[in-house]
Amino acid sequence: MTTTVGILDSGVGGLTVASALHRLLPALPVRYVADTAAFPYGDRPEALVSARVLAIGERLAVEGCGLLVVACNTASSAALEALRSAVAVPVVGMEPPLKPAVAASASGRVLVLATTVTARGDRLARLERRHAGGARVETVPMPGLASLVERGVVAGDEVEGMLRTALAGPLARGVDVIALGCTHYGLLGATLARLLPPGVRALDAAHPVARRCRDLLAASGGLPAASSAEATVDCRATGDVRGLAAALDRLRASGADLPPLDLRAATGAVAVLPSGGGG
Ligand code: DGL
Repeated sequence: MTTTVGILDSGVGGLTVASALHRLLPALPVRYVADTAAFPYGDRPEALVSARVLAIGERLAVEGCGLLVVACNTASSAALEALRSAVAVPVVGMEPPLKPAVAASASGRVLVLATTVTARGDRLARLERRHAGGARVETVPMPGLASLVERGVVAGDEVEGMLRTALAGPLARGVDVIALGCTHYGLLGATLARLLPPGVRALDAAHPVARRCRDLLAASGGLPAASSAEATVDCRATGDVRGLAAALDRLRASGADLPPLDLRAATGAVAVLPSGGGG
């Protein structure tokens, strides 16, 4: 039987994973929760992020999703293990693509760009201990960058200024590969390609995570039949739907690769979770 995949993020960032998955398996049914009422996860207390991710993940599992993807590095850092213990279905998480970044680096100097929660989390520290090898890894937290992307701003002076400031030191020290440790940053690909000097590249984890999902679905017999029609991602927002729709329009106008979406407001318990005052 075809598995419905449940994907969650604080906002638009996880759509990079939904898009990669849609490209691999256009007929796969996907339910996406954009937890915009609590955006940005990266600037929230970890306990709040964890409580929301658990509630949303449990709800997606109850609704029949047979595979969950925490398409957010911050949420994975805060709650991946807890969610795996709470639900009976497999849960795929996100982490900065440090291992491939180290493998791709000729200079042995790698930069991780991440939210504040991810940058200071144990999960990234463990990842670094496992995969840095002899490479020098710098991590730069980027407060505010995901918020610009969430508004659909992926180019222009503000974004470019923020990136130039963050990249200047690491590039001067010889960094030649940048691991994007926030799914929102995957939407900055074109801007990064313009800003980075020749020989320096940015790696994003959306495609490897999508391939991992496809492999899990293949192993469990959950792939859609070859003859099935293209699916539309069922996308629910916990916050302002109109604001999100406008941001998605801006992202599409900037050339972002987004899957076809049916956008509506989240309902039930996840629509009334405590959000820590804002969003
Ligand atoms: N997309 C999220 C991530 O991958 C972070 C954005 C936020 O701060 O909410 O870390």
